[in-house]
Amino acid sequence: MFASARPITLLLLLHLLGSVTSLSIHTAAPPIQSQVSPPSHVQSDVSSFPSSVSDPPSISSGGGSATTAGCPLTTSPSTVVVRFDDPFTVNCSVPVTGFPLLGWEIKLEKELMPNPDTTQGRFLVWSVDRMTKWSIEPSCYALSEQGGQCHIELPVIVYKPPDFVAISIADHSGPMLEGRVYTLQCEAQDVAPVGRLLVTFYKGPSALRQQQSIDTVKEPVTKVFTMDIIPSKEDNGAEYWCEAKLELGPDGPQHPPVVTSQKLKATILFGPNLVCPTKLQVREGQSLSCEVRGNPRPSVTWFRDGREVALPAHSTREHAGKYTAWTIGHLGQKNFTVEVEVLGGRGTTNFLNGYFLLGVVLIQMITWL
Ligand SMILES: *[C@@H]1O[C@H](CO)[C@@H](O)[C@H](O)[C@H]1NC(C)=O
Ligand SMILES: *[C@@H]1O[C@H](CO)[C@@H](O)[C@H](O)[C@H]1NC(C)=O
Repeated sequence: MFASARPITLLLLLHLLGSVTSLSIHTAAPPIQSQVSPPSHVQSDVSSFPSSVSDPPSISSGGGSATTAGCPLTTSPSTVVVRFDDPFTVNCSVPVTGFPLLGWEIKLEKELMPNPDTTQGRFLVWSVDRMTKWSIEPSCYALSEQGGQCHIELPVIVYKPPDFVAISIADHSGPMLEGRVYTLQCEAQDVAPVGRLLVTFYKGPSALRQQQSIDTVKEPVTKVFTMDIIPSKEDNGAEYWCEAKLELGPDGPQHPPVVTSQKLKATILFGPNLVCPTKLQVREGQSLSCEVRGNPRPSVTWFRDGREVALPAHSTREHAGKYTAWTIGHLGQKNFTVEVEVLGGRGTTNFLNGYFLLGVVLIQMITWL
């Protein structure tokens, strides 16, 4: 698109005038006068730009260079990804003839910075020693011999990894109860741009969930990401943590900045739970074992016929009957009843009986014969 009516037209005029006649153009446009002999390499420091008091910048979210249809300009790189305070360089070039003038125009917080440098050559490099602005909208333009101009916008992503990332449980501290809902929160402190932050919650080595913000703010912000968990007794001792990664795309650093939180070791209170079946079969001679588990470890007392007993290490048929476990756990007192059946001799009874029957049948058959 060849849009006219931009300050550039004036600039071309001045430029052409300047090169044909040697008119003094000093008073015409002070910011432009210094560019009569266009260099091919431009140095500027964004921090030296006057800061603006205007409204927050309007942000065209998302990257991708907006090549105006038919405009032959290209920039290298096509998107600038720069860490705050770091330098960058970008080269705008026009591969065809017919564009006598090339320049950069930088929009900073809604203000148009008269970027000084233009060239009559095929490319113009723009360098910034220290990137100290969060929001900047540069475009490279070329004036056409036919009149008018075209331009290409350069997306710039200014990033800053979070100062720290911390995990906690919302409105809670100390041990958690099994089966209740808790909210894990992962706080990323002072990160930009938060919309490119990918937050992953972990339990031990396994990722639980990933989250992203839809916020398009370019300045650093502190953001809390949350996820609900319902811990079970298996989670006792598990370590919850989170990781915040800035996903800056193919033009970003080779290793995307990653900051991880501390580890939050979960203590889950549960039980007491009866581990054995309520109808328990043990073989004669085996131990009668039935565990009651919980955290904290419950106190367990076994009763049989109203009397306190120890569970037998070697069961005999006399040990069959109804046992009651009287337990005290974190939620108070709880009783379990277990009916114990003691099976005859070491599991060989049925087997021997079978042989015995077979023997009887054989003897019968022999006597018949
Ligand atoms: C800028 O790009 C042009 C065209 O690709 C190339 O010829 C030129 O060497 C580049 N300049 C710099 C300083 O990288
Ligand atoms: C549990 O069993 C003990 C002993 O038999 C008894 O004294 C107590 O009342 C029982 N408690 C409950 C809650 O059933």
